[in-house]
Amino acid sequence: MNAMDTHLKQAQQLGEEQSIWFKLSPLLKGNTDNPLRILIQMTERYGPVIPVNMGSERVVLITEPALFKHVLVTKADDYIKYFDGLKPIFGKAMITHDGALWQKIRMPQQPAFHPDAFGDYIPFFVAAIKTKMDQWGEYAKTGETFEMVEQTWTLAADMICKALFDRDMPFNPHVVFKYVKMYTDVQEHKGIRQKKQSGEQFEITEADAAKAMEAWASVPPAVIAADPRDEREKTLLKLIQSCVADPSIPEFDQQQAIDEIKQYLWAGTETTALTLAWALYLLSNHPEAAERVIAESEAVLGDREPTAADYSALTYTRAVIQETMRLYPPVWGLIRIADKPDNIGGVDVKVGDRIVLFGYSAQHNPKFWDEPEAFRPERWMDKSAKRQVKYSYIPFGAGKRSCIGGAMSQVENTLALSLLLRRFRPEYVGPVPAPINATVTLTPKGGLMFRMHELNKTA
Ligand code: HEM
Repeated sequence: MNAMDTHLKQAQQLGEEQSIWFKLSPLLKGNTDNPLRILIQMTERYGPVIPVNMGSERVVLITEPALFKHVLVTKADDYIKYFDGLKPIFGKAMITHDGALWQKIRMPQQPAFHPDAFGDYIPFFVAAIKTKMDQWGEYAKTGETFEMVEQTWTLAADMICKALFDRDMPFNPHVVFKYVKMYTDVQEHKGIRQKKQSGEQFEITEADAAKAMEAWASVPPAVIAADPRDEREKTLLKLIQSCVADPSIPEFDQQQAIDEIKQYLWAGTETTALTLAWALYLLSNHPEAAERVIAESEAVLGDREPTAADYSALTYTRAVIQETMRLYPPVWGLIRIADKPDNIGGVDVKVGDRIVLFGYSAQHNPKFWDEPEAFRPERWMDKSAKRQVKYSYIPFGAGKRSCIGGAMSQVENTLALSLLLRRFRPEYVGPVPAPINATVTLTPKGGLMFRMHELNKTA
C-alpha cells in the first residue's frame, strides 16, 4: 500500500459509523446553535448517569463531579483512553496509550513542563506574540475582517515551535491548520458519506481528506530537519531525541519521537488557540473587562517585556483565561472505555462501554456556580465567593492523565492577552452568542470573525 492509499484509508476514520464522534452526533442535533444544551437537558431529565444504547455498544454519559473523580482518579486504571479515528492525528503518541507504556513515555518528558522551566520559555512566547502583532498591525491598517481561531492557532504553534523545539515554524501554519481542521470536522465527514451515497456532488473529497493527512505527516520531519533557532541545550525536542537514544526505553523509537511532535503540535495548540480566541470574543463583548486587562498590563508590565514574576502578578488577566475555559472548555467531554465491570452512581457498567465525562455540563451547573452563564472573571479572585466543588472544573482533565501542558498554556495565553490588548482592540463582528460546534473539541461554528483596531489610532 503506498502512502496516499494509507492516508486515504485513515482519512475517513473519525467520521466512520463506529466512531464515538459519529455516534454522538445524533444526540447533539436538536439545538443548532449550542448542541451541548441538549446533553444538559438530558441530564436534568434523566440524572447524572445516562446509559444510551447505540447499536452494538453503549455510551454512558456522566455529569457529576464526584463521578468524574471515580473514573479519572479512584478507578483510573479500569478506564482506558479512547482514540479511534484520532490515530492519524496523534499516531502512537503517549496521549493514546495506557498503563506502563504510557508511563514510560510520559515520565522522561515531564521536566519540560515543570513550572521552573516557564521562565526560560517566556522570551520565546513573547517573540511569537510580536510576530502576531506585526500581522495584526497589517489587519488594523486594511480594516479587513478575519477569522480568529486560525490566528490564535498560528500563534500557539509558533510558541510551541520556538519555546519547546527551538525552531522557527518550518511549515506554513495556515495550510496545516486548514488541513487538520478539515479532518477533525466530523460533520463534514458524515456529510461526505451521505452525499456520496445519494449520488450528490460534494466539495471535500476523500482524496482531499487523505491529502490533509499526508500534509500533517510531513510536519514532524520538517521540525526535526529545521535549523535550531538558538542552539539551546534544554528543550523538549532534545529530551525526546535523548529518549530515542536511550537503550533502557526501546519502545521510544524514532516513530515515537515523530508522533510526540505531532501530539504537541495539535493537543498543545488547538486547545490553547481556542481558549485565546474565545477569551478575545468574551472581552470584545465585555469592554469593561477588556479595560481591566489593559489597566493591569500597563500597571504590571508598563513598556517592559514580561518575566515569570509578571505572570504571577497578572491576576485579573489569568482569571479571564480561567473563566473562558469554564464557559468554553476546549475539551467539552473526556472519553474512556471501561476495561473492567463497574457500577457508577447505581448504574452497572459493562466492559467496552464508552464513558463520556461531560465536563461542560458541570462547569455550567448552577449547583456549583453562581450565575453559571455569566462571564465573571472576578469569581476566580474572590476568596469569599461560593466555594468551588472539587472536580466541577476540569478543563485539563483530572488524575494522572490530566494535561501535561495545562499550566504552561495558562502562561502562554495570559501573556498573549496582556500584550495583545495593550496595543490592539480586537472587535468581534459575528453573531452573539456565537454558535458552537461540539465535535472532538468545542469550536465556534464557522469561526469567530474579527476586525482589528490599533489602540493609539482609535483612542
Ligand atoms: C487551554 C489549553 C489546553 C487544554 C484545555 C488542554 C486540555 C487537555 C485535556 C482535557 C487533557 C486530558 C484528556 C483526557 O483525559 O482524556 C489533555 C491532555 C494532554 N495535553 Fe492538554 N490541553 C491544553 C494545552 C496543552 C498544551 C500547551 C500541551 C503541550 C504543549 C498539551 C499537551 C497534552 C498532552 C501531551 C496530553 C496527554 C497527557 C497524557 O496522556 O498523559 N496540552 N489536555
